[in-house]
Amino acid sequence: MDYDAWFAAQDDPSERYPLTDVVYYSKSGGLLEVQHNMDALRQRSAAEWKQLFESRWMRTSWPYGSGVWGKKEWICPNIDDANIVSMFEGGSNLFWAERLGREIGVDELWIKMCGNSHTGSFKDLGMTVLVSVVKQMISDGKPIRAVACASTGDTSAALAAYGAAASIPTIVFLPKGKVSVAQLVQPVAHGALVLALDTDFDGCMKIVREVTASPDSGIYLANSLNSLRIEGQKTVGIEIVQQFDWEVPDWIIIPGGNLGNTSALGKGMLMLYELGLISKLPRIVCAQAERANPLYRAYQNGWRYEPIAAQSTAASAIQIGDPVSVNRAIGTLKRFNGIVEQASEQELADAAARADRTGAYACPHTGVALAALAKLVDRGEIKKSDRVVVISTAHGLKFSRFKVDYHEGKLAGAVGTYANPPIELPATVDAVRRAIE
Ligand SMILES: Cc1ncc(COP(=O)(O)O)c(C=O)c1O
Repeated sequence: MDYDAWFAAQDDPSERYPLTDVVYYSKSGGLLEVQHNMDALRQRSAAEWKQLFESRWMRTSWPYGSGVWGKKEWICPNIDDANIVSMFEGGSNLFWAERLGREIGVDELWIKMCGNSHTGSFKDLGMTVLVSVVKQMISDGKPIRAVACASTGDTSAALAAYGAAASIPTIVFLPKGKVSVAQLVQPVAHGALVLALDTDFDGCMKIVREVTASPDSGIYLANSLNSLRIEGQKTVGIEIVQQFDWEVPDWIIIPGGNLGNTSALGKGMLMLYELGLISKLPRIVCAQAERANPLYRAYQNGWRYEPIAAQSTAASAIQIGDPVSVNRAIGTLKRFNGIVEQASEQELADAAARADRTGAYACPHTGVALAALAKLVDRGEIKKSDRVVVISTAHGLKFSRFKVDYHEGKLAGAVGTYANPPIELPATVDAVRRAIE
């Protein structure tokens, strides 16, 4: 029996398409899911899978040294190795944030640093899969001239980098003035066609959907409604478990915007569970910014979802009012006894600053997750002895303006509780001595 994967409609699994078809929705208009031939995967025992994954972990052999492609059979088994576009993403550090955990009140706080990656965010995990499949499609003769995405910054950086590595043209749709300078310059530098639109992320998403709607456009859609992205992103949970020697943490907290990542985390964990590599599931917390909180509102409202207009937030990458993967994420949270928590601008900024003072360097989205953690600990939902993993989704260096503004007391909606601005002095020993004392 061969390893195999295909797109399937969520409401009718018999409606299937090859992963190399240009198709994003089922006949009924729902999103497609990637399904695997689980019987073929079950031919290897759990112990054999663990051994195989360990043997490939962080090596240089192509393409298995990538954290994503080290699990190729579980991700995208049919692709030719020659068409894989990888920069050995994944394998990011998971570290014990001992001091921060102590301050928040949990003995075992771990941070999974997904921002320590090629383009500085977890988006690399999904983009390597999507761009590899596009390369396979092009080598099979499919008329694809470019790959496009709407983005709050990190998706466009990843798409542009992987597209550039594979010589595939890329087009990115960004909400003008709403992404950080570091995020904007990435697709610019990689030679993408960068379209800064006078709208928000949801507005960009609408336009990119229309531009890519017809297969005749030759422009392939790279947003996470395309489930190829989810396949790569699902490795984050698998990696966490592997890094704990195949033990499952009690909680995983993840910031949520378009909600592909929350769904992907759940998908990877379920695969581990179904193939017998783990025997329990963690609880998942999705953390949203209070100013862009449609999932939080749904959670408070018996899971009744309504899109909102997202307000401006320092957590700009999750400033999304109508997340495309909302139904998938709700399914995941129900399955994982999940919780949705939110963080105000003050809470997220202080949480990031507090983490920084313990040696982390947290992006605002990680601040949202850390603020959610503190609230859940205060409420007694998360216990002191629980093992908690916070997924840090991007590198703090991508958000220098956020940090500078916080420390200069200029951040909108927040005061700098932990501000530590530089002290400007005349260049004299006396002045320096006085400052030190
Ligand atoms: C840094 C960062 N954190 C969190 C998210 C949220 O991920 P998702 O949109 O899949 O919910 C994103 C992407 O939108 C992001 O770029």
